[in-house]
Amino acid sequence: MRDAAPQTIYLSDYTAFGWRVEQVSLHFTLAPSATRVRSRIAFAPNADAPAQPFFLHGEALTLISARIDGQDITPDVTAEGLTCTVPDSAFVFEAEVEIDPAGNTALEGLYMSNGMYCTQCEAEGFRKITYYPDRPDVMAVFDVTIEGDLPVLLSNGNPVSTAQGRAEWHDPWPKPAYLFALVAGDLVAHPGSFTTRSGREVALNLYVRPGDEGKCAFGMQALKDSMKWDEDVYAREYDLDLFNIVAVDDFNMGAMENKGLNIFNSSAVLASPETSTDMNFERIEAIIAHEYFHNWTGNRITCRDWFQLCLKEGLTVFRDSQFTADMRSAPVKRISDVIDLRARQFPEDQGPLAHPVRPDRFQEINNFYTATVYEKGAEVIRMLKTLVGDEAYAQAVQLYFDRHDGDAATIEDWLKVFEETTGRDLAQFKRWYTQAGTPRVSVAEDWADGTLTLTFTQSTAPSAASPDPQPQVIPIAVGLIAPDGAEVATTRVLEMTEATQRFAFDGLAQRPVASILRDFSAPVVLDHPDADPAHLLAHDTDPFTRWEAARTLARRSLLAQIRDGAAPDEAYLDGIHRVATDRSLDPATRALMMGAPGQSELAGVLAEHGETPDPMAIHAALEDMRAAMAARFGGDAMMLYAENTVTEAYAPDAAQSGQRALAGVMLSLMTRGDNGTAAQAQFDHADNMTQKLGALAQLITAGRGDAALAAFEDRWRDDRLVMDKWFGLQVARAQPDDAADVAQRLTAHPDFNWQNPNRFRAVFGTLAMHHAGFHHASGKGYALLADWLIKLDPLNPQTTARMCSAFQTWKRYDTERQKLMKTQIDRILATPGLSRDTTEMLTRIAG
Ligand code: ARG
Ligand code: ZN
Repeated sequence: MRDAAPQTIYLSDYTAFGWRVEQVSLHFTLAPSATRVRSRIAFAPNADAPAQPFFLHGEALTLISARIDGQDITPDVTAEGLTCTVPDSAFVFEAEVEIDPAGNTALEGLYMSNGMYCTQCEAEGFRKITYYPDRPDVMAVFDVTIEGDLPVLLSNGNPVSTAQGRAEWHDPWPKPAYLFALVAGDLVAHPGSFTTRSGREVALNLYVRPGDEGKCAFGMQALKDSMKWDEDVYAREYDLDLFNIVAVDDFNMGAMENKGLNIFNSSAVLASPETSTDMNFERIEAIIAHEYFHNWTGNRITCRDWFQLCLKEGLTVFRDSQFTADMRSAPVKRISDVIDLRARQFPEDQGPLAHPVRPDRFQEINNFYTATVYEKGAEVIRMLKTLVGDEAYAQAVQLYFDRHDGDAATIEDWLKVFEETTGRDLAQFKRWYTQAGTPRVSVAEDWADGTLTLTFTQSTAPSAASPDPQPQVIPIAVGLIAPDGAEVATTRVLEMTEATQRFAFDGLAQRPVASILRDFSAPVVLDHPDADPAHLLAHDTDPFTRWEAARTLARRSLLAQIRDGAAPDEAYLDGIHRVATDRSLDPATRALMMGAPGQSELAGVLAEHGETPDPMAIHAALEDMRAAMAARFGGDAMMLYAENTVTEAYAPDAAQSGQRALAGVMLSLMTRGDNGTAAQAQFDHADNMTQKLGALAQLITAGRGDAALAAFEDRWRDDRLVMDKWFGLQVARAQPDDAADVAQRLTAHPDFNWQNPNRFRAVFGTLAMHHAGFHHASGKGYALLADWLIKLDPLNPQTTARMCSAFQTWKRYDTERQKLMKTQIDRILATPGLSRDTTEMLTRIAG
């Protein structure tokens, strides 16, 4: 049951819990609709906390009995939890509750997925399992007993005993309840092992449903690589005898770092060449690393409260990005991360959902697992490292581990280790955590007497979250390129702290071309009217700014096409053709260079300039650009395609995937001239999903995808993850007029299981990302999405609320579209019993 007026929780209201938990024993008797949970919790008064009534969280629990020190009690029970009178000294609280995993469609707490029991407790799901102080600053040692007639019974920590139908687990490391996990089912283990640097043997297992055994090897290797990397780079060793990963088909997010028992969305761990694309492999490797790295940044050191979420997520995303850079290509990873940041975080930070990396208020914490907390949170740590240097960063992080091991910490604790290590005052830098919005940095150039002066101005648009933003510390990495292409000044990091600031480079023989924001040294929008992107595209030594030069040229051309009906810019086409045929560049980088900014990004750029984006005009401009590109490449496309066709056995490594990416771009150019002949050949002969799916996409675009789609469905109808691709691709490749109709038609498909988040997202997440299709002038895209969000909300509020962000940019568009979107937002909001999650999201979006 939901309160009439949802409650807002404030960071400033934090108070410690009045008791410490010395030990927890849980006993589960599993049954699909009537699982019994018996708890025994040893409490002792916390002298550091203010006096308070004894309150335990608990939701959707049927209380069977409760005792304090062995005496039966009758607590006051509400929809949020339980209150009772307790002794002044230490005491033991016991309870028995009944829960209904089979009826749990929200996929939070203990639920069932394909006949298997699993849990998701972060952020506040443990309270749906039993009565408990469900807050991250209460850490305890857990003992768990599971009884159930299933072959595999798992929980956190090390096994104490396992017998048929019964298992006991002990986790020696104190942990908050959100890291609790339980899994029970008919599962098979793909085993492995790892010897830590101090010589301890760790047993590793990847548990999957029978039939998925062939999709485990890659994930297992990624886990071993992650364990080794964290020892080598961060001196972090694993701390249990066992590390288990379980793949689950029904999961709201990517994966979860439960202590010693990570639970993964099957899409984030299962992989094979026949069923997974190169991008899938790379993402799986990164997510396995991410969850593993949480063992130190999140588990050993956790968060004091949920406002500090970025303490573990920003740092862990940063660590996994370093890992991917080391395992693959650092420039490719950096460029891909910037593409992702601009696509997902910038719209959030520049719209009604803007919030600081460390928010200071929320209604539903699940709504704050955002690109801002995660990805901007990682960018903030990257900047910190750039500012203090690699050595000081390493020292500060080691101090953080030494000082805070076993703590539930805060951003203040994190910044303090940097202040102490470096002697720097980070008070102004801290604004990156407390202030919302993307800073705009504009730069003007002055050239006189051998000196180039750069004048930078920063400003951040006010938002509901930050009405009066102040200047931030912005590291701006700059290099200078001479007219002949030589680098005359290597990268120097300018530290901007004022609203306006000048930096001079003197002793220059000729006016150089400035390469600014190298390696994307800060998450800002750069405005540099004097830039010479054509020169940088040809000569920049920094891979990021060189790529950015191509992007800038593409953006300029596209904006001129959209605004004035100009033709695609010849200089851009020449430059990109030169880059694509430059064999000194690796294929992955060349493929990235050829990518144009997305439709939604262009809409955002127009909106920032006070213009109203027309989705159809944006779509048409990109089509014209691709046609012009195909014409400019001519026969070179086929040559580059052949040159980058991998002949060795498939491997999901950086080198091969780079070649396939470039060949894929060439195939898309070729398809414009051959009506899909080459694509059909690739589809017929490919032995891996990357090429199959790439070819299928081209066939749909060429208007001859039906036979291939049918063959694909026939081949893969029993593989859920592959079928997700089949559903998604049809929406993604639909013409703007048809996208909503295709999505609607797919909802009638017998395999459209809308209660499965992956399948729901395959259709509706893809529709929301189909810019011209979702924003179809008829409003049918908006209406269809709203229909399904209304349908999903009562079952799964979390996934519904996340998908509401499709409407976050509604104020960018023309009044007619605004009206159409607002009508749908209001219609969803008017739904009786709408969840707190969805209500909060749409209320903020409506502004
Ligand atoms: N801590 C997990 C991760 O980043 C995310 C879990 C979020 N789940 C949720 N229901 N909010 O790896
Ligand atoms: Zn995480």
